[in-house]
This record gives sequence, C-alpha cells and structure tokens, in this order.
Amino acid sequence: MDRMQTMAYLNGKFTKGKKAFEVINPATGETIASVPDLTRSDCRKAIDYAHAAWPIWRDTDTTTRSRTVRKWYELIVANKQEIARIMTQESGKPLAESLTEVEYGASFIEWFAEEAKRAYGETIPPPKNGQRLITIRQPIGVVAAITPWNFPLAMITRKVAPALACGCTVVLRPASQTPLTALAVAKLAHEAGFPQGVFNVVTGKDSKGMGEEFATNELIRKISFTGSTEVGRSLMAQAAGTIKKVSLELGGNAPFLVFDDADLDAAVEGAIAGKFRNSGQTCVSINRFYVQDAVFENFAKKLTAAVKKLKVGNGLEEGIQVGPLINNDGLNKVKTHVKDAIEKGATLLTGGKVKKNLFYQPTVLADVPMSSFIAREETFGPICALFRFTTEDEAIAMANDTEFGLAAYFYSTNINRCWRVSEQLEAGMVGINTGLLSNAVAPFGGIKQSGIGREGSKHGLDEYTELKYLCFGS
Ligand code: SIN
Repeated sequence: MDRMQTMAYLNGKFTKGKKAFEVINPATGETIASVPDLTRSDCRKAIDYAHAAWPIWRDTDTTTRSRTVRKWYELIVANKQEIARIMTQESGKPLAESLTEVEYGASFIEWFAEEAKRAYGETIPPPKNGQRLITIRQPIGVVAAITPWNFPLAMITRKVAPALACGCTVVLRPASQTPLTALAVAKLAHEAGFPQGVFNVVTGKDSKGMGEEFATNELIRKISFTGSTEVGRSLMAQAAGTIKKVSLELGGNAPFLVFDDADLDAAVEGAIAGKFRNSGQTCVSINRFYVQDAVFENFAKKLTAAVKKLKVGNGLEEGIQVGPLINNDGLNKVKTHVKDAIEKGATLLTGGKVKKNLFYQPTVLADVPMSSFIAREETFGPICALFRFTTEDEAIAMANDTEFGLAAYFYSTNINRCWRVSEQLEAGMVGINTGLLSNAVAPFGGIKQSGIGREGSKHGLDEYTELKYLCFGS
C-alpha cells in the first residue's frame, strides 16, 4: 500500500498550501515529492484548531485516549516497511536502520499509551488535623513540537505520544528535509481516530517564522524542540515572553573513554554502533574517543580494521551500513573538521575523503590535538577522532571539558571504576560498556547546554502535564 502522503494535516483534513517545496533524496539528489510550504499564518490557524480541540480531548476519558494512541502504534507497526522506505529516501539512512527507527519510534507510542493510565497524583500527610492535601496531574494544553531530520519518526513520537496520551493537543512542525515520514504517520493518526484538531502537522521552509509563532503565541502552553543549541537558546528566550514550559533536546559532544582494563573487542563493537548510526548524525553520536596510553595502538588498529569493513552507499541497497550526509552544509562541516585535525598534527588511519556527492568515507584519525575543532564541536559525521590520555582523572577532565552534557560512554571491566566514572561524567546519560543507550523506557535528555527536560520513561509524561495541589480545609 502506498503510504506516501504529501499534504499537510490541519484540523483533521489533508490540505495543500498556496506554495510547495521539494523533498530531495540525499543519496541521489532526486526530488521525491513536493509538500505544502505553509506560512506563519497557517501555523497560527493550526494553533487555533488545536486550541479549539483541546477541551474535547482533555475531557475524553483516559481509556479512550489510551486506546486511540495504542491504535496509532498498531497502524505504524503494520505499515513499518512502507514507512521505513519513505524514511530512507528522505533521510538517506540505511533501510535496516530506518526499520529499527520505525520500531523504536513506535515503541514511544506504545509506552505512553500505557503511561497515560498512570498519570498519578499523590496524597500528602497534612500538617494540621482535618486538612486533606492532594496533588493531581492535568494536561498542560496546546503543545508545539519542532523536530529534526536525523530521526524523522522517533523524535516526533517521543514528543507527540506523551502529549496526546495525557490529553494535550499538538501542532507539529517536522524538519523540511524529512516531512514525508511525519505526514505518513499523520495519515495513520487520522485512521486511528483522533478527533479533528487534536493533532496537526504544518510543513514549511520558514523555520524561523514558524518557530517564533510557536514560541510567542499565547495559546501554546508548551514548546518541545529537538535541534541545535543555538536555535534552542533563541526559542527559549522567545518563549520567556509568555512563560511557556519548554523541553529542549540540543547538541552533544559525546566522549567515549577506553580504559586499559577494557575489553577492546567489545569497545570496538560499541564504538561502531555509537559512532556510525545514521552516519554519525545523531545528538548522542560519539564525537571524541579518549583512549588510555597502554591500549591506544591496539584499540586504534582494531577500530580501523572494523571501520574499513563498513559498506557505504544508497540506503535502499542491500547491506549498506553508512548512508550520505544530509546536505552540503553537513558535508562541509565534516570536511573542515578532518582537514583541520590533520593540519594540526592528527594521523589519518583510514578514510579522510568524500566518496561521491554527499557520501563521506568512514574515517579514523589518531593522536588528534586538543586544539582541533573536533575536540570542541559536534562533527555530525562518520569520523572517529582518537585522543590519548594517561590517568583516569585526566580522562574525566577532558571528557567534561565542554559546554555540552548529553551522552557519555566508557569501557572498563573494573566495577569500582565503573561507578566512580559514571558519577563523575557530566552528562544526562552514560553508557557503561555499551555504545547504544536509547529506548522508550529510559529518560533521554541532557544537562549543561545540551538541554532541559527528559523524553521517554515515566518522566516523559510529566513534561506535558501540570502538577496541581488541592488543599481541603478542615
Ligand atoms: C538524537 O539524535 O536526537 C536522538 C538519538 C536517539 O534517540 O538515540
């Protein structure tokens, strides 16, 4: 069945805009489809629809809300092959990875359909006889969600599913590079039976104007954004005008520490998983590898051998593991980071070149100087930058020497070290002897300038509710 949907979704209807823009396949440069190029004023209309729908959805019983959300999950799973193909075409990620993302993305919907039933309040022992103190959780209202291109489905579902499940209504703006996955799942939400106006999807190129509308419109009570720290900072400043609740999932610069007591084969496996997922274009991608002196050469050799085996190409082809970068800006950043590291003295162990068009060879650089751009900035590409360290304290200091604090990883077989290092790393999430840590049941989010709030887990629902305190007098 063709699940490609090319119209925006407003007030329960699929609508064309006055203008359209093209969605390009980064692997081939071909146009896949045209979608509505909606404006800031279309966004305002969508917010009005979501606001009108809010009382109806808020007052819908939890069982009905939970079942509707669950139905959406079932429809996505039933159509996962088709959605994965759409995702690969617009994002470039290998088909196997897109399928994994559809399942990962759907798992947030399944999880929050259940969690909505458990939006518990509490009873509090009163300080005076006769009083009764209670808290209840209520949906916050109209939610604006702004999502990136690197996870065209999962970044949507981990915002939209908790919001809808607990009784909020939503206006979503998906990234203009990857609107087709969003529209395909909007069609399935329509089929699942959400009332009109409860979920709206506005596609458009005007990210600045639409973001500003979301952040300043009084009817929006909550804004949830995944993307760069720079844009997150600006949305937060704009949202301050109407004191909106904000959730921000921003940039990272994840360190990966390999201690001399690590299982090196396991560390290489974790490194490949944590570095090359989506060609290194994830916020939790490893950006800096710190390897202890005694195992540096051996780790570098094993990692280089594994990197050389990675198959690069169009994600629709069988066996491809690394797809293209999303666009020329992404490619140029990778090129600049590699050139800069080599000029400053790093040794190139493999890769280091554009393969063709937006495809960059998986690369390993050894003995990268701390003055390199790659030590400070998120590369968002298939580059492994290896730095040396001697002591544990030095490794922790280097890992924490960044304004970001999203994910951190390390490998060690010493249990005391595992606890010690986990507690000292300044990150919202720490992977211990693993390079992959995301799932629907655990809290995803960062500290420092990597963001505010948590997605997934039981905490992910709190972001879309207000805690109200009721005090019954004697
Ligand atoms: C991200 O890159 O923002 C999310 C990655 C993940 O969910 O693992």
